Amino acid sequence: MADSEMKVALSATRQGGDVVARYFRDGVEVRGKQTYNLVTDADLESEKVIVDAIKSAFPDHAVLGEEFSEADLSSEHLWIVDPLDGTNNFAHQIPHFAISVAYYRAGVPQCGVVWNPVQDVWFSAERGQGACHNGEAIRVNAAERLDQVLVGCGFFYDRGAMMEATLQAIGDLFRQHIHGIRRFGTASLDLCQVAMGRFGGFFEYELAPWDFAAGAMILTEAGGAITTCRGEALPLSKTGVLASNGTLHPSLQSIVSQYCLD
Ligand code: IPD
Ligand code: CA
Ligand code: CA
Repeated sequence: MADSEMKVALSATRQGGDVVARYFRDGVEVRGKQTYNLVTDADLESEKVIVDAIKSAFPDHAVLGEEFSEADLSSEHLWIVDPLDGTNNFAHQIPHFAISVAYYRAGVPQCGVVWNPVQDVWFSAERGQGACHNGEAIRVNAAERLDQVLVGCGFFYDRGAMMEATLQAIGDLFRQHIHGIRRFGTASLDLCQVAMGRFGGFFEYELAPWDFAAGAMILTEAGGAITTCRGEALPLSKTGVLASNGTLHPSLQSIVSQYCLD
């Protein structure tokens, strides 16, 4: 692919991150989309500067963003943006959140960037070029058994059947003697933890494309696997997500798939 999409992805992510970091420093009013699903001016302004940066470089490209940018998912040139992933952490002054930007051509991921602007931690990948953490190449870990790894998870905002399903899967994972469960609260960065070998796997029973589009690209370029919780190819729509170092995928899938609600 041409350099330019990657350059624009990096620059747009930086511009969104600068907005988010400023609000994190100066404070911002938090509103509820639903009871636990929060939104702030940081989410909205970050999406605006990211979309403006992409559109000024590629006026014909479609942009799907979490807050207000709508796009036809079958567009030949499609950007997928989470302007602030981990809003709950952000709202509670926990400096673990990210800006996530991915570019897909004809449904195939071409490049992705995930950046935590307050810790200056960034992940990037280009199709066929591997994945990087702060510019250094990364790779999934080589664990072969669940009793050798940490597993990350996420809870959607649901407090009903999906929450119960997640708790059941976590119980089964502990019974397989995993080293521990981690719930860091930023799905894009969770996928990057698998990509760099800190987690052996990650699952969440419902994510949106903006949560996983860039992280999925980074993970696969780092040698990992990502599917629905039932092991199917990931659609570009709301879906359960199972990510792993590849080797652990069957054992994780056999647990996580049992409690899928879809
Ligand atoms: C959320 C985070 C969280 C995940 C939620 C997502 P948001 O994104 O990625 O880790 O568990 O399902 O919705 O709302 O902070 O952009
Ligand atoms: Ca998100
Ligand atoms: Ca978000």
